[in-house]
Amino acid sequence: FEVPWEASAVELGPYPHFMAKEIFEQPQAVRQALAGRVEPGSGRVDLGETGLDPATLRSFQRYAIVACGTAWHAGLVGRHLLQRATGRPVSVEVASEFRYGDPMVDAGTLTVAISQSGETADTLAAVREARRRGSPVLAIVNVEGSSLSREADWVLYTRAGPEVAVASTKAYLTQVVALHLLAAWAAPTGAEATGLQLLQLPSRLEATLGLDPAVQELARELAGSEHLFYVGRGLDYAVALEAALKIKEISYVHAEAYAAGELKHGTLALIEPGRWVVALATQRALLAKTAGNVAEVRARGAQVVVVGPGASPGRAELEPMADRYLPLPEAPEPLLPVLAVVPMQLLAYHAARARGCDVDRPRNLAKSVTVE
Ligand code: G6P
Repeated sequence: FEVPWEASAVELGPYPHFMAKEIFEQPQAVRQALAGRVEPGSGRVDLGETGLDPATLRSFQRYAIVACGTAWHAGLVGRHLLQRATGRPVSVEVASEFRYGDPMVDAGTLTVAISQSGETADTLAAVREARRRGSPVLAIVNVEGSSLSREADWVLYTRAGPEVAVASTKAYLTQVVALHLLAAWAAPTGAEATGLQLLQLPSRLEATLGLDPAVQELARELAGSEHLFYVGRGLDYAVALEAALKIKEISYVHAEAYAAGELKHGTLALIEPGRWVVALATQRALLAKTAGNVAEVRARGAQVVVVGPGASPGRAELEPMADRYLPLPEAPEPLLPVLAVVPMQLLAYHAARARGCDVDRPRNLAKSVTVE
């Protein structure tokens, strides 16, 4: 499968910024990421192109995910998916910490390194350390021919195409898709059902982008805040971390993400009248608990944005509690956290514009960090 890397792929076209272009390209990026890997009729998943096979993938005793920044957030999603699929322990660690913690990886561990550029110094160093300890490495990487792709034993390309904006959007989304594919392929059963769900993702992403005008309006309200809090549970917590990073990176708003259940252990002290809290609540099983957390912060005067299901159950319970409700399109539940990141990217984008920030080139940051 050929991903277009030609010059036209890195021109702005009708968009004012690369970040906007890359957010709106996500349905197409995901189509590319799925092409030839999920059979349209049956949903059969095949990642044979990596050189791996499901039996080998399942033969590992443990999996260790290493990555930096946004790619680490994709890794947090990957841990849930891989652990559920394999029934084996999956660790996920920022690459710079992995090296210093005497990592417990060996020949029975598959190290999974995630990186857009494939050139991040910390990730490369973690991979070298893992290999030194005998652990084979699977790279989930965007840039073909990158150092990481050359050093890994197996490579799963994310096929996002060139990403120019410093803040990662389509690269993150395709990393998450790659991890869904990997987990489905590793699972002893149920891969086809996941495959069929993933095939719905591009059209559901298109529908999610329809939230843009509502998010733009919300961004105008939130852009004056110097502190924002994002909360979620399970997969939604991983999305909350990515949502907070996006807004920090490009709009310089101080944002923190918390596992919603941790609020009561400290963060609640920061909630006072006028604070905005963004709650991600896409998972039915966790709905009642998250609704409880929303009530907790509202009781202390916070204004709450809830990102939740577009249909009930979910919407009927959550919408009345929210000051602003962002309804996701109807989609299979495992896809909802993938969709939820889109309005969060748009929120960061519009907040940054409202604050007059340089969206594509935020201060102090680089697209690819090649020093440790
Ligand atoms: C830099 C970028 C981040 C990115 C991180 C990891 O810090 O500014 O957006 O997530 O590096 O980059 P990688 O290329 O390894 O995914």
